Amino acid sequence: MNGSTDGPGQNVNAAILRTLREASGSSVSGAELALRIGVPRAAVWTHIDELRELGYDIQASPHLGYQLVSVPDILNADDLQSLTQPAVRVIGREIRVLHETKSTNDIVGALARNGSPEGCVVFAESQTHGRGRLSRKWISPAGKGLWFSILLRPRLPPQSVTRLTITAAVGLARGIRRATGLTSEIKWPNDLLIRGRKVAGILTEMSAETDKIHHIALGIGINVNFARDDFPPALRATATSLSIAAGHTWPRAQLAADLLTELDRTYAQMDGPGFEIIADEWESACSTLGQSVSIQTGNRTVTGRAESLDSDGALLVRSQYGHLDRILGGDVTQSAAEP
Ligand code: BTN
Repeated sequence: MNGSTDGPGQNVNAAILRTLREASGSSVSGAELALRIGVPRAAVWTHIDELRELGYDIQASPHLGYQLVSVPDILNADDLQSLTQPAVRVIGREIRVLHETKSTNDIVGALARNGSPEGCVVFAESQTHGRGRLSRKWISPAGKGLWFSILLRPRLPPQSVTRLTITAAVGLARGIRRATGLTSEIKWPNDLLIRGRKVAGILTEMSAETDKIHHIALGIGINVNFARDDFPPALRATATSLSIAAGHTWPRAQLAADLLTELDRTYAQMDGPGFEIIADEWESACSTLGQSVSIQTGNRTVTGRAESLDSDGALLVRSQYGHLDRILGGDVTQSAAEP
């Protein structure tokens, strides 16, 4: 596991990358790096060599010092930490990156059971058994997306967990907009679409008793640098990626950092009156509201007009007989928008 876990700001690789980035294209001498980070100069050399081996192009000039020229399109825990700290409140306190795993949600579940702190994030370059909602498969190839899970311990009763899902969808939409300028719509409860096609999904897995949430593995998958042909034929009509939407690829590390930053801010807003703002934003972004929907929930199908969201994030659906159904989860098919 490539992990950056030794306390905020304490990791030398992260500190070197942060210092070189802050110099924005100028050089920083070895002596200054050593002084600012609080390690001997020899340690600076060793760590710079380590970063170069990972693909970071750090040029050295004898008189001027070190300059960060380019970064590789890899996910590296130290780099993610350098891009997110020191502003992290909860989400991103600890960041781990795996080369390949079955599902990052499983890893976060195991970390939670072993007492890892809230806010720990696990990324994988690829997942062999990535899963989506309703036991669907989530394809997660290397280099094409961001596949990660966040360990959360929200102070919410289990029946209000939809609040968290809504908060995550809004945080993700904010993060995508901040990083790329692209606006996404939300399909209830938490699919993110761009121009009607799915770009990201959220899988909330909860361990709880009747009145207490133990932990949540909040799994997020974002199609970042897929070309149309990278999707399996069955998905081509319904899926999209940030690169398809923008017409160019995106550096995944910066994107990941921006997303974590927005998710962290939005999560901090979830408690108390802040949720009203999130819910309003969710309602404005939600393409499901006002539409005729058919929702498969458990073994029944609810059809009607998606009218609004209640204070716990449940969808209120008005049937053709005027009855209001409160739906907590399910698979929505949206039909034509009503006039
Ligand atoms: C959905 O839209 O159905 C939810 C998709 C969630 C996919 C992510 S990828 C990271 C995490 N690990 C998984 O196995 N699933 C989630």
